[in-house]
Amino acid sequence: MPPRTALNWGVLPPSFLLPSTASTSIAAAAAAAALKQLPNTSRRTIKSIHDPRPNRFTHNPKHEPLESTSTAALARREHSTPLRSGALALKRGMTALYDPETGKRTACTVLQLDRNEVVAHKTRDVHGYYAVQVGAGLKRAANVTRPMLGHFATAGVSPKRWVAEFKVRGKEGLGLGVGERILASWFTEGQFVDVKGTSRGMGFAGGMKRHGFGGQPASHGQSLMHRGMGSAGGSQGSGSRVLPGKRMAGRMGNESVTVQNLKVLKVDAENGLVVVNGCVPGPKNSILKIRDALKKSWPEGPMTSAEIAPTKAAVEATA
Ligand SMILES: *[C@@H]1O[C@H](CO)[C@@H](O)[C@H](O)[C@H]1NC(C)=O
Ligand SMILES: *[C@@H]1O[C@H](CO)[C@@H](O)[C@H](O)[C@H]1NC(C)=O
Repeated sequence: MPPRTALNWGVLPPSFLLPSTASTSIAAAAAAAALKQLPNTSRRTIKSIHDPRPNRFTHNPKHEPLESTSTAALARREHSTPLRSGALALKRGMTALYDPETGKRTACTVLQLDRNEVVAHKTRDVHGYYAVQVGAGLKRAANVTRPMLGHFATAGVSPKRWVAEFKVRGKEGLGLGVGERILASWFTEGQFVDVKGTSRGMGFAGGMKRHGFGGQPASHGQSLMHRGMGSAGGSQGSGSRVLPGKRMAGRMGNESVTVQNLKVLKVDAENGLVVVNGCVPGPKNSILKIRDALKKSWPEGPMTSAEIAPTKAAVEATA
């Protein structure tokens, strides 16, 4: 076993306490030099064998802490920000299409773009982010407030019933100029879209309807609690309280719902129709936001109005 290193107490003992051999100045200097070379072993606190806990505001102590600037926040969201604008559409109803290749019948929803026009651009310099403001529908001028009338007049579009913004990644996303029309051919057949809308309001609903609770037995002396939710939690031990987030009866539906990855089966630019597979939230004639699917690769669709395929009527008008 190697000899244990002497503890360095930080200060040398006074010279009259040192042994006579060390009291000579040369020996004292040598001893002091030897003491200096010893590793600093004077840590007399209890040291944890674990690494320090990570700061709860950073993901990983090995990584750089997240920056709190708006530029950094935009950069973090960049991969999930669409390259181009979406559009507003009305839900017209559901039908079914036969796939000519497989002969399979698929349920699908018909969406219609109603006079979609770009009302404004939001830019990073002025507003802090890039977005396209899209208006749809028609509203009588007498029903529109004067500030909004001025806003529509600046863009050179008729007053719109619905106005919504679509965030885009950068300047290239502003390919559609202010006042330009968004046709259904903005979307290409076969691409995937996300559709966002408001679900049907069910009013105040019980636990069985709202959360799928099982309810209680029909017989064996059950008394007026057949559809009741039962116990809301334990008594002693769980704090004698109802834990936050307990699912109960309450308002159901009438909330924003996004359906992701719907395939565009058919596009009819003449009538402004976009047919997507599956179902979308809300009743008929409700307004929906359609945009390129976030969880699929970005489509190769048009980025500017010049790239949108013109409708047959427009081609005949120019001919
Ligand atoms: C305008 O508002 C009136 C009620 O003030 C309403 O009855 C009418 O349908 C609205 N018209 C349009 C085109 O929005
Ligand atoms: C939907 O919610 C809004 C408030 O967010 C409320 O005014 C409206 O009455 C609700 N509609 C239905 C059908 O529940």
